[in-house]
Amino acid sequence: MISCTVSDKPLFKQSAKGFVFFVEEGTKFASHVEPLLQDQFPLFEKLVKERNFTGKKGSTFAFPFMHGKAIAYIILSGFGKKQGKHFTLETLREAVSRSIRCAENFKIESLAAHAADPKEFGQSIQYVLQKMSCISMKASYAFDEFITDKDSRTFKVESYTFVVDKKDLKDAQEGVRIGAIVADAINRARHWVDLPANMMTPHSFADNAKKVAKDHALKITVFTEDQIEKMGMGGLKAVGMGSQHDSHLVIVEYKTKKKNAPTLAFVGKGITFDSGGLNIKPTGYMEDMKDDMSGAAAVINAVAALSELKAEVNVIGLAALAENMVSGNANHPGDIITFYNGKTAIVGNTDAEGRLVLADALAYASKHYTPDAMLDVATLTGACVHAVGPFFSGLMTQDENLCSKIEAAAITSGDHVWRLPLTDDYKVMVKGDHTDLCNDGKTKYKAGATNGACFLSNFVGDTPWAHIDIAPSAFNVPDKPYFRTGIATGMGTHLLIDLALQWNK
Ligand code: BES
Ligand code: MN
Ligand code: ZN
Repeated sequence: MISCTVSDKPLFKQSAKGFVFFVEEGTKFASHVEPLLQDQFPLFEKLVKERNFTGKKGSTFAFPFMHGKAIAYIILSGFGKKQGKHFTLETLREAVSRSIRCAENFKIESLAAHAADPKEFGQSIQYVLQKMSCISMKASYAFDEFITDKDSRTFKVESYTFVVDKKDLKDAQEGVRIGAIVADAINRARHWVDLPANMMTPHSFADNAKKVAKDHALKITVFTEDQIEKMGMGGLKAVGMGSQHDSHLVIVEYKTKKKNAPTLAFVGKGITFDSGGLNIKPTGYMEDMKDDMSGAAAVINAVAALSELKAEVNVIGLAALAENMVSGNANHPGDIITFYNGKTAIVGNTDAEGRLVLADALAYASKHYTPDAMLDVATLTGACVHAVGPFFSGLMTQDENLCSKIEAAAITSGDHVWRLPLTDDYKVMVKGDHTDLCNDGKTKYKAGATNGACFLSNFVGDTPWAHIDIAPSAFNVPDKPYFRTGIATGMGTHLLIDLALQWNK
């Protein structure tokens, strides 16, 4: 993993192989060139002009130069133009990530750059460094441990040094410390998602959660299938019936030292593989379904980070884990099940399994923790994928206060959300004919993502609650320089962390 550090030594005194400049469109790439490079600078300027690099958003330009007796590179990464007073955090995330991608292409293993100017972002130096280090680590993540020939693995940048003024050194270091904790949580969540279903079963997920809990001083409870059945969690039980692997409910708890702090409950969908069950998915729809535990991975790792960051809220994380498979023991379309809160549902479609496992976990969380707010994060519907595309997750809530807090955390974290409808009008669509509920909804209402949210709304009681459908953005997001094709994004992890950190603000 890339290591990020800060330094107050001049940029060209750094021992890096690549020197990065972030360039606002239409400006010269470095107005303060260190004396060391003054002789070469006119050449650079000419080159940049000739090659038409103007600092456009998304553009990079790299060229070699003599740094003392060694070859080094200048890497220019464009910020584009400011829309309004400040650059957005997304601009910073993309430009920093592009500098890393550029270095990877040239096989440059060490980078140094001036820290971005906090004034340009309307932020503190600490916050800017937090974002720069976090996104550097996020961009560096790859899933290549199963490529046995090490030379064929993704080239990785090993270090990124951010140069700051001496007076800012302490704040900058604190920013990097926080950024690294957040990025560790995100990348761990991604790794859990990237591990395929033969390696990441409900049981091995629980083992991973136990290790994380131990490392982050979290209380952890693991309910096994027998306990799940005894407690009356008919949804979690039913979904796992067709699998060789037992369903689990994992609960991690972080308690702040702060008095009278609010409690947040995060619930994650943890389907370690979604074949669809007897309503089996066709070819083309099943291949990526190891990612169906992305919500659970986000939740557990977010709580871990919040503990390390000593967040001033209590946080409970629940992971509802099961494997949705086909077998003689699998639940059938038409089965009637009873949930933890006593409500009943007909399983109209075994492929709408996410809401069944979440229902029990939500009911359990609202009953036992009476949280001030509850969020679930789930790869719940293909409909949401079609509604918002890969760059957003669907946000559904009837609580305006919670909604604005989540939207604020989405902007700071970069885990973008787009609100979809959830009103009482829609709730009739999940009514069962002979049961309280049906899990596939009445098709005349369309709105498949909202349908899922309506089902879940029956399990939250009076708790302020929001549902985040990360099906669009959890896996294989294209075009963003901090992701790579065919791997997990860790979506939701950073959102939950920022939501909790900013809760009291
Ligand atoms: N895990 C899927 C949803 C999904 C789709 C996640 C694409 C990631 C990418 C979920 O369990 C599912 O199968 N949903 C069904 C619900 C339907 C049967 C009501 C869907 O969206 O088709
Ligand atoms: Mn499904
Ligand atoms: Zn699913």
